Amino acid sequence: MSPEEFRKYAHELVDWMAGYMENVEKYPVKSSVRPGEIFDRLPGHPPEKPETFEALMKDFEEIIMPGITHWQSPNFYAYFPANTSPPSILAEMIISTLSAQCMMWETSPAAAELEEKMMIWLRDLIGLPPYFEGVIQDTASTSTLAAILTAREKKTGFRINDEGAGRAGTLRVYCSGQTHSSVDKAVKISGIGRNNLVKVPVRDDFSMDPVKLREAVENDISRGFIPCCVIATLCTTGTTAVDPLRAIGEICTEKDIWLHVDAAMGGTALILPEFQWMLDGREFIDSFVFNPHKWMFTNFDCSAFFIKEPGYLIKTFEILPEYLKTRSRGKVNDYRDWGVPLGRRFRALKLWSVIRMYGVDGLREKIRYHIKIASRLAELISREPDFEILAPVIINVVCFRYRPEGGNDESINRLNETLNHLLNDSGKIYLTHTVINGKYTLRMVTGQTNVTTEHVEKAWDLIKSTARALQT
Ligand SMILES: Cc1ncc(COP(=O)(O)O)c(C=O)c1O
Repeated sequence: MSPEEFRKYAHELVDWMAGYMENVEKYPVKSSVRPGEIFDRLPGHPPEKPETFEALMKDFEEIIMPGITHWQSPNFYAYFPANTSPPSILAEMIISTLSAQCMMWETSPAAAELEEKMMIWLRDLIGLPPYFEGVIQDTASTSTLAAILTAREKKTGFRINDEGAGRAGTLRVYCSGQTHSSVDKAVKISGIGRNNLVKVPVRDDFSMDPVKLREAVENDISRGFIPCCVIATLCTTGTTAVDPLRAIGEICTEKDIWLHVDAAMGGTALILPEFQWMLDGREFIDSFVFNPHKWMFTNFDCSAFFIKEPGYLIKTFEILPEYLKTRSRGKVNDYRDWGVPLGRRFRALKLWSVIRMYGVDGLREKIRYHIKIASRLAELISREPDFEILAPVIINVVCFRYRPEGGNDESINRLNETLNHLLNDSGKIYLTHTVINGKYTLRMVTGQTNVTTEHVEKAWDLIKSTARALQT
């Protein structure tokens, strides 16, 4: 493709992109294709001869688009937001055009230095202490794995890296039963072993009970286990519960345990001064992750990982083959040593673009609005006697269920599950569920970039009428 042809197609594509943004609400939010439907429509073999961009776009519209779930629709209330925004998309276009491999400073000094600066901006924005340093990882799952591996190495004097887990003793990791499954995965693959992940009971508000954490740690020590790491969550996936950092941190310091904080979605709320209470006890934190690719208008992937003493992280991951030796080593940040992958994308550019083009005020305004919409939804739900809210509404998630008179626990669970499927199959909105104390719970997240109060009020009317029609 010549630059001239590229220019033509790229202009057409930008028109398509702007049209998509304008019309995203017209698509069914959740794709309704059958398993295998898209696969069966794709040819079994690649084309022998080059095809045109027009042919590609035609098939994209006809075959691929029906199988897309529209995460950027303001009617998307499922899982968590995976936001994008025009500033992020524009930066992503530059990133893919440059396609720089940002594995270390020398392979693109601007990428390394912009990343270093963006992590300082973000650190200060969310209120982490100034001694934290940051690195962009692909996901919170990777960040948490990096934290657990670093905690493991610190605890064992870097022996597992060298000798394997054989003689290191049995390490233990602690989190609450509400913690995201990425922690289970990280513990499972870290060599610590899934059986050594202790799920600490939660309090009534679904946050970790520090009294139970202390009991679990002391019980483990008396049995000869080695407490290694605690994962506290700021805004859990199911109900956005906030684990009490100070109480947890005091135990960690006393028992010499690494404290990792998972604030994958909720971390964005820390840019608001009124949510700084979540970080009370910040001085106890060893590592911290939050995902601008969830709720901060930066398209996937972009996970901000902060660490109090990066030396431990680097010592855990660094490896220095001859072909990666550089003259700048030791004077600059070579981020390939700060995590698993060698190859790295130029993700800092997206953050730079988003933070500059929204401005801190713009980001705060939007996040505050999303939180206000969640409160509005909670208010609407609590007015209806046949609905109930099942968890405190803290940021942008509302957990509720339909509970008409006369049903038992089982029938009400079935009713809510049917309601969830009916709503999603309508294509008008998309929400997902969790189970709270045995109750099938609808979970609505009001964090999509362009969601408004009007969208949520309309969605709520649909939920109410669909539920009540079910009953009669
Ligand atoms: C609290 C929490 N931690 C971790 C994750 C995993 O995030 P990622 O997809 O970036 O690995 C999620 C995703 O929902 C989450 O809610």
